[in-house]
Amino acid sequence: MKRTHNNGALRLSDKDQTVTLCGWVQNHRDHGGIIFIDLRDREGLTQITFDPDICGKEIHEQADKCRGEWVIQVTGKVLPRGEDKTNKNMPTGEIEVSVTELEILNKAETPPFEVDDHAKVGEEIRLRHRYLDLRRPSVQSSIIMRHKISKCVRDYFDQEGFLDIETPILCKSTPEGARDYLVPSRVHPGAFYALPQSPQLFKQLLMIGGYDRYMQIAKCFRDEDLRADRQPEFTQIDIEMSFVDMDDVMECAEGMARKVWKDILDIDIPTNIRRMDYDEAMLVYGSDKPDLRFDMKIVELTDWAPTSGFKVFAGAVENGGVCRAINAKGAVEKISRRQLDALTEYAKELGAGGLAWIKVVDGEWQGPAAKNISDEAKVELGKRMQTEDGDILFFGCDKKKVVENVLGNLRVEIGVNRLELCKSGQWEFLWVHSAPMFEYDDDAARYTSVHHPFTAPYDEDLDKLESDPANVRSKSYDLVLNGVELGGGSVRIHNPDVQQRVFTALGIGKEEAELKFGFLLDALRFGAPPHGGLAFGLDRLVMLALELDSIRDIIAFPKTQKASDIMSDAPNDVDEKQLKELHIVSAVATAQA
Ligand code: AMO
Repeated sequence: MKRTHNNGALRLSDKDQTVTLCGWVQNHRDHGGIIFIDLRDREGLTQITFDPDICGKEIHEQADKCRGEWVIQVTGKVLPRGEDKTNKNMPTGEIEVSVTELEILNKAETPPFEVDDHAKVGEEIRLRHRYLDLRRPSVQSSIIMRHKISKCVRDYFDQEGFLDIETPILCKSTPEGARDYLVPSRVHPGAFYALPQSPQLFKQLLMIGGYDRYMQIAKCFRDEDLRADRQPEFTQIDIEMSFVDMDDVMECAEGMARKVWKDILDIDIPTNIRRMDYDEAMLVYGSDKPDLRFDMKIVELTDWAPTSGFKVFAGAVENGGVCRAINAKGAVEKISRRQLDALTEYAKELGAGGLAWIKVVDGEWQGPAAKNISDEAKVELGKRMQTEDGDILFFGCDKKKVVENVLGNLRVEIGVNRLELCKSGQWEFLWVHSAPMFEYDDDAARYTSVHHPFTAPYDEDLDKLESDPANVRSKSYDLVLNGVELGGGSVRIHNPDVQQRVFTALGIGKEEAELKFGFLLDALRFGAPPHGGLAFGLDRLVMLALELDSIRDIIAFPKTQKASDIMSDAPNDVDEKQLKELHIVSAVATAQA
């Protein structure tokens, strides 16, 4: 080994030891002829000193040349810094190493940004030189935490009797709702593999193959619009179990979350995480992933709207819509008129025609909507919304889906960003279960799966598969944390006839089903056990546990919002020869020619 210790290891108890350290030069200072360098590696910083009377003139001169990010190896003696020079902010702050030998292992060009947590550096330049960004202590600590969480997860499932089994990356597309990444086959002209959006069908086949209790930390690929909590390639903690019902999977998954929060953060999550069915979540929070860190529930006013005297509210209900509202308590102080306009714009982006609001100031109701509401209706509204001075009410009156979307998103925007109601260290876990099997897609003019087509319907709703698909509930469950979907899963269909009926409800005919999922339907005919499972987003889990805002912070080499790796320049053009081998003609190249 080139070193005896890492740069976070030495303490006063190591006094007088001769040690060898390696690392990167963090900074370089000259104090009255003695050179001080902070030497860095992923474990921390150690102050090393070059006193010409101790190390000699030649080494002192070499040390003087060392610059930021040079890689050096030093040998020297551990000395106490003395009470007055101790740096209490550094674990190694009580000592320094007085160097007697120095080897410069590598020089570095001046880096494009300072490798320091305090330097304000744009994300683009950090990602372009990610290897430098990765050296920053905060990034290193996140990546190390990710390792610890993965290990904790593996240990938990190992203890619970799960087998870690890998599934293919080159496979047939499985529908999870996003676009596939496709890989052309050289051997089969014109045919493509899809990269897995998740190992969904393989884990079901593993259950049919008898490998009860499967787990995998699996890479998944989805070509979809990216956000702070979405990457085109991401990692799932994927599990599947045989002979189980909803409760069994939920309890097992909860156990994992409980262990991670206890072992990593020393936080006790309550033994029975709260459960809410999907309908309640949508009604009261306008979202299938409610953020329970603050209250601000949505209040149903559909029966009140026709009596309000306000044509807009009454009209929406007359047209078959709903009227609901939220009360942003104390918002008058914090939300300016300009911000109200911005919120109105936001509501329009979410699909609303406009945004009706009422401010309560000194007992008076202000705002365009207030004028239109009769005094009697105001009294009733005040009671239902529990209005007090300083509140702002926001209304949603439209089709149910629009109102859920608008109020659900406004609630979060106002609660989290405008009123800043959430505190660090709040962990509001929630199971949202029993989502509908299907939702109607107006554009496609057919039903689509709310989860995925392999999710089992409630037994008592089976009869409605053909007659009333909109009201079939699924045996599904999502684990939500602070308004983010951490994981989702379901009990699966293990009966081939039911699977075919679900495909039919989704507009997938027998022939198409046979073509796309014949292997699954076949397998279901050969003694498939009842089974169910779940997948957590590992990236999201780490991001939330570390209270970070973006999953890019906890992925060593993330993609940008535009799904590119600007460091290595992927995706990139490939040789004409490569394309030819793959039987591909580039439409872009043809257009340019
Ligand atoms: P689902 O599609 O809900 O379920 O995905 C499970 C979890 O994966 C995470 N996730 C993502 N994380 C980062 N970037 C993305 N683009 C992304 N997409 C999803 C989320 C989500 O909760 N096969 C089913 C699971 C099952 O039924 O067992 C599935 O993939 O945290």
